[in-house]
Amino acid sequence: MNKQSTDDILAQDAHLIQSFADLDGLKQQGARTAIVAAKGAYVTDSEGNELIDGIGGLWCVNVGHGRREIIDAITRQLETLDYYSTFYNFTHPSAAALADKLASLAPGNLNRVYFGNSGSVANDTAIRILHHYNNRLGRPNKKKILSRIGAYHGSTHLAMAMTTPVYSEGWDTAADGLVHHLRAPYGYREAGEMTEAEFLDALAEDMLGAIRDIGAENIAAFIAEPIMGAGGILVAPDGYHARMRQITADHDIKYIADEVVTAFGRLGHMFASEDVFGMVPDIINTAKGLTSGYQPLSATIISDEIYEVISEPGAMFLHGMTYSGHPAAAAAALANIDILEREEIPQKAQITGKVFENALRGLSDLDIVGDVRGSHFMMGIEFVKNKDTKETYADEVKLGQRIAQETQKRGLIARPLGNILILSPTLIMDEAMIGEIEGILRDSILAVMAGLPD
Ligand SMILES: Cc1ncc(COP(=O)(O)O)c(C=O)c1O
Repeated sequence: MNKQSTDDILAQDAHLIQSFADLDGLKQQGARTAIVAAKGAYVTDSEGNELIDGIGGLWCVNVGHGRREIIDAITRQLETLDYYSTFYNFTHPSAAALADKLASLAPGNLNRVYFGNSGSVANDTAIRILHHYNNRLGRPNKKKILSRIGAYHGSTHLAMAMTTPVYSEGWDTAADGLVHHLRAPYGYREAGEMTEAEFLDALAEDMLGAIRDIGAENIAAFIAEPIMGAGGILVAPDGYHARMRQITADHDIKYIADEVVTAFGRLGHMFASEDVFGMVPDIINTAKGLTSGYQPLSATIISDEIYEVISEPGAMFLHGMTYSGHPAAAAAALANIDILEREEIPQKAQITGKVFENALRGLSDLDIVGDVRGSHFMMGIEFVKNKDTKETYADEVKLGQRIAQETQKRGLIARPLGNILILSPTLIMDEAMIGEIEGILRDSILAVMAGLPD
């Protein structure tokens, strides 16, 4: 790669609108990284730098980059059947096989699958289905949604309305009054002097209070990520999901588990809801690791009970996307799941993920590391000015961003989020690579600490 090619890419990139970006900042500095190639756990930028992909693309490249089996499966599929829809009475073998496979992997009676092409669409789809379900049951008022502060559910209008409100600052939400946000299960900042069990009681009481205020007869669903990702890796107290599941079941409110990030091995299991958190929701939404990012694909996996209602005589399913179950995406997912199973990647991640977790927790001795949290290959480091008071540096210090810049200089891509740094690498890390990541993080944090204001 030469410098010219970077300049060429960036000149053309002036026409591209980046996601979640400070567009003016990009205009002024032009500081972007063009990733031109990827293999295994690494990516290469247009300057020829090889970097550890510490964020797994975008929490999605679970089996690693450049897997020949997936690329071949996509190619074979395109050579046989490039495109056909799953509209009306049409289907095709890859979408059918993948739906069957997901039904076998998903817990409980979650046996019916609707394919979309993003996590946002999966979440919108779940809500549209539940609204329709309640209409069919003659409960037209049972439409409101309980979500949580800190949640990230996507960027379509409805998914964004369910996302934590800070993501919509200066933007509108199309669903005013539809979504009620409960308190974040953010122990580090919300629990105060409470024990974990007391904090759990408080969160359960929040949920019960909201149900009392809004009325269960008006609430369709509670949507929750097993571990909040883009909200800053927020891990709820032990027993939280099972408790919330019980409350929702008691009040005839559907539980939607947003497993867009947590499924397909990131927490050591194909799905986290039952295997990690001991509960079976009514709907699981997933995307990202479903194809390891090789193709855009999401799945909304619903219970037989919901399916029975929406498939009654006379009930039309008025929902559809041209690329729902796209053959190439379904083929990619099947090949990806085959790799996950054959190489026992989730099982291995139960061990290496713990090594990763412990390595990052080892950074807690540094003065500005306030909290290291997460599980397996979904980790966050929260930086503070004062560990005792948990006071943070001002936003202008751009602490997370500065540390991410330092890690990138040293060969590691990490994702800054305010005062938090997120790590969600591929699941194929070995101990040597984990050690390397830890070393880069430590050196980068120390380098930034040396230049921080008092
Ligand atoms: C938990 C969760 N849900 C939904 C989404 C939205 O997925 P997509 O970006 O594919 O629309 C994301 C994306 O990061 C996510 O982390």
